[in-house]
Amino acid sequence: MIPPIANRFVAGESAVSVLDRARELNDRGIGAICNRLGEHYDSRGPADEDVEAYRRLLAEFRSRGLRACVSVKPTQLGLRVDEALFRENLVRVVDAAVGDGRGDGAGGGDGGAGAAGFVWLDMEGPGTTEPTLAAFEAVSPANPGRVGVCLQANLARTEQDVDRLADVPGKVRLVKGAYDPPEGEGVRDADAVNAAYEARLGELFETRGGADQGVALGTHDPRMIDLARSLAAEHGTDFEVQMLMGVREDEQDRLARDLDVWQYVPYGERWFAYFSRRVAERRENVLFALRAVLGR
Ligand code: FDA
Repeated sequence: MIPPIANRFVAGESAVSVLDRARELNDRGIGAICNRLGEHYDSRGPADEDVEAYRRLLAEFRSRGLRACVSVKPTQLGLRVDEALFRENLVRVVDAAVGDGRGDGAGGGDGGAGAAGFVWLDMEGPGTTEPTLAAFEAVSPANPGRVGVCLQANLARTEQDVDRLADVPGKVRLVKGAYDPPEGEGVRDADAVNAAYEARLGELFETRGGADQGVALGTHDPRMIDLARSLAAEHGTDFEVQMLMGVREDEQDRLARDLDVWQYVPYGERWFAYFSRRVAERRENVLFALRAVLGR
């Protein structure tokens, strides 16, 4: 069982816990992006296990009429074992998301049974960008509006990657970037990352207004969300805001009154490393964890 301190950031260990969380979020007007915790697999076994778990979860979303989708990590689907295995596993997850083809396919929208048909590709550390984008380019055109990929603003290459994906259907989630780029391949300073985020966001709104395309912001930064509001008004393009479970929950509710808001909900037995990262990244989280331990 997940202890009380960790359950602010992780739904639970079981599929039932993440399905319950998705229902609760839907009742608050928020969609659920569910991630089974797991990464950096060096053998096929755990990758196949997670693929099956995602396939079952996607079927549950559909049968329960949840506005929910999944987000997968390339190294969770076997990228470190073999790029072909990763692609093959991605197709299996996307096939399960598409199901019998019912639904609006956008991963957003009406919250009806048909909304449960979308797969996000998280972007991991250096070395994974190229195979991840190549997989998105290979799989998304055959499943238009069912697949999305994450781009990291702190990488220098992302400016070209936005251009490269301009004609590819699917959504792009822009994040600041959780991994330090190798020397000379990006920026680390917060101001420089913010400037890059603003520039890439502008380019995404310019290039992703086509059918079956979309823009998502994976950020808790109010400045970036305000910028997206003005870019959306200028370009007449919708966008979605995605935030992590346990971070700015009040703000997620407030934004959901007039924006398409999705919460990234991690779950599964491998929760400890994820929880430790959340605690370490922000002083408030350390204090929160300490208070919970001390019972006050
Ligand atoms: P940043 O950390 O710069 O914070 C900016 C502002 O946001 C703060 O000044 C404050 O106002 C507010 N804020 C942030 N955290 C807060 C908190 N805990 N409480 C209150 N206010 C807070 N990365 C990656 O490399 N690959 C990926 O696939 C993903 N995927 C992903 C999905 C989703 C849904 C999210 C939200 C994030 C990711 N990320 C990611 C992580 C991302 O790259 C980044 O590291 C974190 O989101 C932190 O950056 P922010 O944009 O939130 O802003």
